[in-house]
Amino acid sequence: MNFKTNEIRHIFLDFFKNKNHEIISGNNIIPKNDDTLLFINAGMNQFKNIFLGKEKPVFKRITTLQNCLRTGGKHNDFNHVGYTNYHHTFFEMLGNFSFNDYSKEEAILFAWELMTNKKWFNIDPQKLWITVHVGDVETYQIWKKILNNKLKNNIFFLGSNNNIYENENFWQMGEIGPCGFCTEIFYQHTKNHDSNISPSVFLKKKCVEIWNIVFMQFYKNKNNTLNPLTSFSIDTGMGLERISSVLQKVKSSYEIDIFKEIINEIYNTFTIKNNNQTSIKIIADHIRSASFIIANGVLPSNEGRGYVVRRIIRRALRHGHILGIKDLFFYKIVPVLIRSMQGNNKILINKQKEIEKTIYEEEKQFFITLENGIKVLNKALNKLKNNTLNGAIIFQLYDTFGFPVDLTEEICKEKKIKIDHEGFIQCMNLQKSRSKKFKKNYFTNIENIPPVIKSKFIGYNNLSTNSKIIYISSQGKQKKTITSPDHASIILNQTTFFGESSGQIGDKGTIYNKTGIFEVYTTTKQLYSIVHFGKIIKGHLNTDDNVIAKVHCKTRRKIQANHSATHLLHSSLRYIINDQIFQKGSFIDQDHLRFDFNYYKKISLKKIFNIEKLVNKYIQKNILVEETFMELKQAKKLGVLSLFESKYSNQVRVLSIGSYSKELCGGTHVLRTGEIGYFKIIAEQNVSSGIRRIEAVTGDAAIQYNQKQESMIQEIKTIFCTNTENIIKNIKSVLNNNAILEKKLQYLNKKNELTIYKDIVNEIKKIGKYKILIKNFTDKDILLKNQLIQSLRNIKNNFIMIFTYLNQNKLSITVTISNNLLDQQNALTIFKKIICDTTIKGGGSKKIACGGGKNTKDIKKVLFNIQQWKEKIIKE
Ligand code: SER
Repeated sequence: MNFKTNEIRHIFLDFFKNKNHEIISGNNIIPKNDDTLLFINAGMNQFKNIFLGKEKPVFKRITTLQNCLRTGGKHNDFNHVGYTNYHHTFFEMLGNFSFNDYSKEEAILFAWELMTNKKWFNIDPQKLWITVHVGDVETYQIWKKILNNKLKNNIFFLGSNNNIYENENFWQMGEIGPCGFCTEIFYQHTKNHDSNISPSVFLKKKCVEIWNIVFMQFYKNKNNTLNPLTSFSIDTGMGLERISSVLQKVKSSYEIDIFKEIINEIYNTFTIKNNNQTSIKIIADHIRSASFIIANGVLPSNEGRGYVVRRIIRRALRHGHILGIKDLFFYKIVPVLIRSMQGNNKILINKQKEIEKTIYEEEKQFFITLENGIKVLNKALNKLKNNTLNGAIIFQLYDTFGFPVDLTEEICKEKKIKIDHEGFIQCMNLQKSRSKKFKKNYFTNIENIPPVIKSKFIGYNNLSTNSKIIYISSQGKQKKTITSPDHASIILNQTTFFGESSGQIGDKGTIYNKTGIFEVYTTTKQLYSIVHFGKIIKGHLNTDDNVIAKVHCKTRRKIQANHSATHLLHSSLRYIINDQIFQKGSFIDQDHLRFDFNYYKKISLKKIFNIEKLVNKYIQKNILVEETFMELKQAKKLGVLSLFESKYSNQVRVLSIGSYSKELCGGTHVLRTGEIGYFKIIAEQNVSSGIRRIEAVTGDAAIQYNQKQESMIQEIKTIFCTNTENIIKNIKSVLNNNAILEKKLQYLNKKNELTIYKDIVNEIKKIGKYKILIKNFTDKDILLKNQLIQSLRNIKNNFIMIFTYLNQNKLSITVTISNNLLDQQNALTIFKKIICDTTIKGGGSKKIACGGGKNTKDIKKVLFNIQQWKEKIIKE
């Protein structure tokens, strides 16, 4: 039977429903509460805590369809995609799970029944091959019983008893986590098994792995020790695209119905000049992963998940380039992808516009980089020595052209060209040390602070404290004493200075005692310490000195107001635009705040005003700003917004502004929103693809901003002699008048030019059989020169023109002759005669020659030469 992919999804789930499994939905591909994973890579991910005994299962038997991504970490197929028939970055995994319920034998029997029973997939058992771990005799016995004598040779032992986790038939979710032996079912496309080749080669070359049945028995920790789990679980996974290829009788998952639809569309929509199958596969695969990642809220960026999607899109674009597609194309495949995923495309339908827009922006941005980078790379590849690409070129491509290193590596790999990694790293390090040196001129960074040096931050509610100096560094070295005017870095046992983090800049202030005063320029966090950078402006200070640390109060107040306003802005944006907006970065100092967030288009002025209004409403309500400490889990349950989830430790600080805003935050804030005073947005712009930025000011800075705007309006009013009501009308009318005057001026200029033109034409002299025009131009009429050359040359026969142009620091000469003189006269020869014995340089053709020089005194000689030439012509 030829099953459609969408039918297979349902048949699998129905089969296990019949076996008392609960059908539950797969997880979102972005893992929640699991720092060990970038993306969901298997159906079992969502049950990790149940396998580990940390959570109780609601159902003992479950079946799911899980969207998976294998683009990094332990399971990474990124580099295989395109080069094999079955690897994908995004794929769907069908699975059944038992938590301390059925046995190995039952799990295997279920799989065998679904695969071979006439009522279900009805696959010929002779075409199925089984692998079992050498150490798992129990599983072997089960299979032997099921396959009986006839097929017992279809079972292979794989793996090894040494370092079992490093070998085949042992499955682990990541380097750390639940794991266990597994047994796999392969399907053989060809008829017979050639007994001369080893089982691994046979399976790899002639078969496709379709089902993996894992017996979850261990927890693998950092030291590679396997600790037995308290309960026995089953986790199975079947690749939907692979089983479809078997049931649709094709030898590649790229030939199944859902891929065919995408690939046909690529051929029908774009002009393909080079029908490269690898590129087609990569594009068809990558549009799936890119779209699902974006649909789940991840935008292309240079970090973590964002970088994965950026890399996927860029790689697809490069393969579009290989196919010879000349324009932006990748985003145009999204609609067919959505159609092809019928049965599992809800999220794509909901987010279609965002996906298309995000890919389009990324494509647009990378298009030029790709074209330029490939040109430079190809040039370098043509001049290759020792079949190795020089590290400096890789660095230049990366640093100057923004061409990603992994793309350079991939292109070289395809062409079997080696890469000079060392040279590249050297160039990178050189650049790093250059920028470090630049930094060092201002601050003395502490390079190796011993981990025992720890400081406590007590500055949320205090600005001044008694403290003790525990570490001093100056000019890169640890110091006992610093004396005015040393620049230095100081660490205190406790401090009220906030170390730059959470987008908030470090505090300024003073550290002092009776012997000396240290002015703190800024403060950062390093390792376990808070480091105060600055300069000793009076006396001296010693390690172990008791001191007072005092933050500059006015500056801190302004920073706090800006930080709390940032939270209010975040919540207002989510309220007014949509709740899918999240913070993507921020910068807060005493003068202003900058807030980056995911959104794909310009925010209208009307919306900006509404956002401002809402933030100011929160300010006027004078709401209490409260901090609470809680477990990360609890914070998540409360829906607290967090920016970099994985960075936070288990105990987190939640900053709440009434019920309007709740965010994980380590920064300092106002006590009540009223302290912010007033909030004003001063800019809204695009920063990178899909990311926008709002800049705003608060308090006095906002008032000053408004006053500045107001005085500008006053000035405009004075200039235009108008009042507020009529200002726009007046400006429009002045612009209108300008346009009319411009037109009039153009008309007069034309008229003037015509008069000059006529005058010039009157200067034409008839000398012998020639009409000769010798004319010196000034700045006023120089624009006429080219016009004259064109028109006079074409209409007049026997015509020779010599033009000089002289200003304060330049002299230029042009000689041109009519077409009918080309066999008697030569513009270049005349030009050469005219510039004889001068410093003028130039050249040209028989028709026209020109040149110039900086020595304006040459004009005398030029005029003399012209006179000589004229006399010769007269004699002729
Ligand atoms: N976890 C196993 C795999 O991903 C079986 O589901 O292959």
